[in-house]
Amino acid sequence: MGLMNCNQKIVIVYASVTGNTQAVAEILTERFRTVGFLPDVCEINHFDVNELKRYDIVVIGTYTWGSGEVPAEIQELFEAFEKLERPELVTAVFGTGDSFFSEFCGAVNRFRDMLYVHTNLAATLKIELMPQETDLVRCQKFVEAVARRLVDTDKMRKRKAT
Ligand SMILES: Cc1cc2nc3c(=O)[nH]c(=O)nc-3n(C[C@H](O)[C@H](O)[C@H](O)COP(=O)(O)O)c2cc1C
Repeated sequence: MGLMNCNQKIVIVYASVTGNTQAVAEILTERFRTVGFLPDVCEINHFDVNELKRYDIVVIGTYTWGSGEVPAEIQELFEAFEKLERPELVTAVFGTGDSFFSEFCGAVNRFRDMLYVHTNLAATLKIELMPQETDLVRCQKFVEAVARRLVDTDKMRKRKAT
């Protein structure tokens, strides 16, 4: 995908305790930069959910807790999307998990299902624990899917306006 020259505001918000999800967030940040975005990157404890309205693209990263559950610290963000009423907002969700557990990356599934209903969900990505070399191409595809959705959404908006 070519370099996008865009002014769209993008944020990557993530929850991470042992660093796996943070590592994916860092890879994605670098990949988004290479296609022309300048993402804000924010650990969930430093993110104010009222800021959601400032962004054109929101990318969420989460680990999974309990038995396939969304971690407590990212629950407020989850609920904020349910109330947001911005169906055009481009979103994507990634996460790390451990396939030892019965629901691998269950928190990504929960976000995926909710974002699909309430927003313009572009992509999901699940990674086993710490990202490996082989995950890099999947990260790239994730970023390209988000960028493509933004272009398509923009085209659709312009078509509707004419
Ligand atoms: C108590 C506990 C419960 C977990 N439950 C799940 C689970 O249900 N599904 C899953 O895929 N991973 C589960 N995990 C694994 C974590 O999601 C995984 O280690 C993740 O990569 C941690 O991300 P972080 O390094 O960003 O904190 C669990 C881990 C712990 C400690």
